[in-house]
Amino acid sequence: MLEQINIHPITFISALSMALELTTSGIANHHRRTAIIARFIGRHLGLGSYDDQILVYSALLHDIGAAADWYEKHYIVHATDNDHIFHHAEKGYQILKDSPQLNHLANPIRHHHDRFLGGNPTGLAGQDIPLASRIIHLADRIEVLIASGEHIFLQRERIFDQIRQSEHLFDPELVAVFREVSQREVFWLDVVNLNIESRFFSDLAFWDKYTFEIDDLIHVANVFSSVVDSTSHYTAAHSQNVAKVAQEMALIRGFSSDEAKQMYLTGLVHDLGKLAVPNEILNKPGKLTTEEREIVKQHPYYSQRILERVEGFGHIANWIGTHHETLDGHGYPFQLQEREIELCSRILAVADIFSALVEDRPYRAGMNPPDALAVLREMALQQKVDTRLVDDVADNLDALAAQVSKFRT
Ligand SMILES: [Fe+2]
Ligand SMILES: [Fe+2]
Ligand SMILES: [Fe+2]
Repeated sequence: MLEQINIHPITFISALSMALELTTSGIANHHRRTAIIARFIGRHLGLGSYDDQILVYSALLHDIGAAADWYEKHYIVHATDNDHIFHHAEKGYQILKDSPQLNHLANPIRHHHDRFLGGNPTGLAGQDIPLASRIIHLADRIEVLIASGEHIFLQRERIFDQIRQSEHLFDPELVAVFREVSQREVFWLDVVNLNIESRFFSDLAFWDKYTFEIDDLIHVANVFSSVVDSTSHYTAAHSQNVAKVAQEMALIRGFSSDEAKQMYLTGLVHDLGKLAVPNEILNKPGKLTTEEREIVKQHPYYSQRILERVEGFGHIANWIGTHHETLDGHGYPFQLQEREIELCSRILAVADIFSALVEDRPYRAGMNPPDALAVLREMALQQKVDTRLVDDVADNLDALAAQVSKFRT
């Protein structure tokens, strides 16, 4: 099992930021690039270390309020100046405001589309809008204006002109800073250089004032699991249910309470990669087409690739990436053989299936626990899941079923 995890927040937040970028065909770069642009501007302004951190963390998560809704995700990239743009900013604020670790990012995110000259639902204007929000607003727009397929140096003037033409949106002092920063080639080259990321984040590693311990990680993971679960009302509490069932199953197997807590954390983030699956597919009442099924099947891959970036998360990422493997060797995405599938991954698989069976789905109502157990028994006979764990479920059916609820707690 794992040693106690103490990690630097930037490693966890930058990984989670990547989860906001998932599309059906891979990982986009909007948040990372917005953070790089914002930091150039922030450094030019001489922000102190604390403000610098708030700026970068907020930029990395600024569109969290749109991550669960594909219409919104699409909309915010194309809309420029329209009242609907404030919706995801407010939602981001609501998602973060009660998190002990992330609540200081809630306000900067709430105002990241506020127009400098006013007319905002938040009622703020000018210098009253938090500085981090004003910087992110500008950085976000610059990022969206970058076109792929044309050399970045040939775009500089066009981008600057477009920003200048929307002067009611942006703080004129920041636009002047952007003008200055954008004279330097390094600014543009860094912004479009996909390989700059590790350097960007290692530059931030000196922000080591506090570390996240397991309970902090659980709090942050809880925020993200709520975003994942809200992609469909059928899964409103799924990640949390899987977390609770997996933790309970780990205790039944004799894990220590710390080890079981890691199973809880694992359950919370096991479906992070589902942000790559459009809402219509997750909510589809009937059978999925082959193509839709392939899109759903990418999710453990992305969950793993995102979380393995977090130092100390190798094991957790591995269990998550293998939660759809089956003992007969026909699971996905690795098609592992029985001996290669770890116990924690098997527990997660059974917790996932059991929770999903008891929850409602678009194509059926939730099953009662004995029926769910019968399905698991059949799956064990077919070498899909571990018989020992299904026996554990049978012996503790009521206690495990009690962990599954319709709503998040
Ligand atoms: Fe936004
Ligand atoms: Fe954005
Ligand atoms: Fe899954």
